[in-house]
This record gives sequence, structure tokens and C-alpha cells, in this order.
Amino acid sequence: MSISEATMPAAAGFEVPRHVAIIMDGNGRWAAARGLPRGEGHRRGVEALRRTVRAAGELGVGILTIFSFSAENWSRPASEIKDLMGLLRRFIRNDLAELHRSGVCVRVIGERKGLDPDVLRLLEEAEQLTQANDRLTLVVAFNYGGRQEIARAARRAAAEVAAGRLKPEDIDEEKLATFLDAPDLPAPDLLIRTSGEQRLSNFLLWQVAYSELVFVPTFWPDFDRATLEEAIHQYCRRERRFGGLAANGAS
Ligand code: FPP
Repeated sequence: MSISEATMPAAAGFEVPRHVAIIMDGNGRWAAARGLPRGEGHRRGVEALRRTVRAAGELGVGILTIFSFSAENWSRPASEIKDLMGLLRRFIRNDLAELHRSGVCVRVIGERKGLDPDVLRLLEEAEQLTQANDRLTLVVAFNYGGRQEIARAARRAAAEVAAGRLKPEDIDEEKLATFLDAPDLPAPDLLIRTSGEQRLSNFLLWQVAYSELVFVPTFWPDFDRATLEEAIHQYCRRERRFGGLAANGAS
């Protein structure tokens, strides 16, 4: 049975994760294995992204968060950064209308300060145009790092304290979370990393505290609906306990 059938009302009990986050890894290795430049891997990575957004929407995923450029990616060669920025610009210019038509709401998380003004404008335009859409929320993590996001949240909370609007003793876990980049969104249920690497690389450190982690060997440019379905199947086989006890009482 495919997940799409599983999500149909007749197949109750099969829960598609509400929020899926993906570390899209392996573009460079995909290209190297074929004797192609790394940029070709990234270009094919954008095609995989298109497929994945479509599949996520069809499968009934509500929120898809993608790690598209990390705060640490600035340490890559200038030519690769230029390629990645070019791909982002083209992705928004070419795909925004289609994303909008298909009901995708684009959100952006990450540090906006210091971005090229035209890149920032495109990201903001995507957010504004699609803000009322509700079929799928596509969260683009751009110039993003988890530790940096937590530091930003602390800074925003500190500014509220300095302004006399917040008392230090009122800052608890729940309060601090309201200062994150997208505080209204639920945490990911499922985090997928492609390419066989098994680490978080500073992605959504706060939010993935209780997410299920699935690592797939596929390089990102080869990722498709079937790979997404397989990762969701793995997720469905897990029992989420959130620090409590299993349904049968086992810890
Ligand atoms: C990891 O592959 C991927 C990235 C650093 C960027 C992800 C970007 C895309 C999928 C394309 C761009 C999409 C947008 C929306 C801009 P890697 O280069 O680290 O691969 P490697 O580990 O095999 O070298």
C-alpha cells in the first residue's frame, strides 16, 4: 500500500507526519560520482526539491522545512556560493507562480542581515505572495544555523527585558520558543537526512528535540517520492514517547 492510499480516510491508523524537515545532502558526491561539476549536483538538487515539494503536498504533509543554505556554507569557495545563490534566485523566479498556484505558503527562517538585497527581496516577495496559502507550508532555511537561531531568540528576549516588557524570571522554555524564527510552527515530527551522513549539522537544534530521525543513503539529487514514502514508512513504525512510557508500559 502506498502512503497516498494510507492517508485516505479508509486506511485509518497510518499517520503521515505533519511536519517533515530535510537536510538535503550529497549533491557534490552525486556529481563527483558522475565526473560532473558540483554545480550540476546542486542544479539536479533543485529538481529533486521540486519533486519533493509536490510529493509532500500530495501525501498530506502540512509543513516541509528544507535546509537550503547553512550559516556555515559561506566557508565554501566563492564560485560555489555564487552557484547556490543563482539557483535560489532562479528557483524563486521560475517556481514561485507555480508554488502559489498549488497552494504552497513559503516561509523563510535564518539570518536575513547581510544577505544580498536582491536575494532578500526575492525571499520576502515569495513570503508575501503566498502568505494566505494553506495546502503546504514550505519553510526555507536560508543562511540558517540552529545555534544562531537560539542566540537570536535570546537576543530578542533580552531586548524585551531591557524595554521592561518581560521579566527574566518569566523566561522559561515555552517563552523562549516564542522568540524563535517561526514560533507559530510545530516542531518537525520527522527529520530526514540524505546521503548516509548521520548528524544534525546545526539544523533546527531547538526544534528536533523529539523528532524522529531517518537517515537515507540516497544522494539528494536522486531523492524522489518513493524515497520520501519509505522515510515516512520508517517514521510510522517508530513509537514516539516524548520521554514518557510506551503504550504497553515499557520505558
Ligand atoms: C548539500 O550537498 C546541499 C547543499 C549545501 C545545498 C542544498 C541546495 C540545493 C538542494 C539546491 C539549492 C536549492 C535552493 C532552493 C537554493 P553538498 O554540496 O554538501 O554535497 P556533498 O556533501 O556531497 O559535497
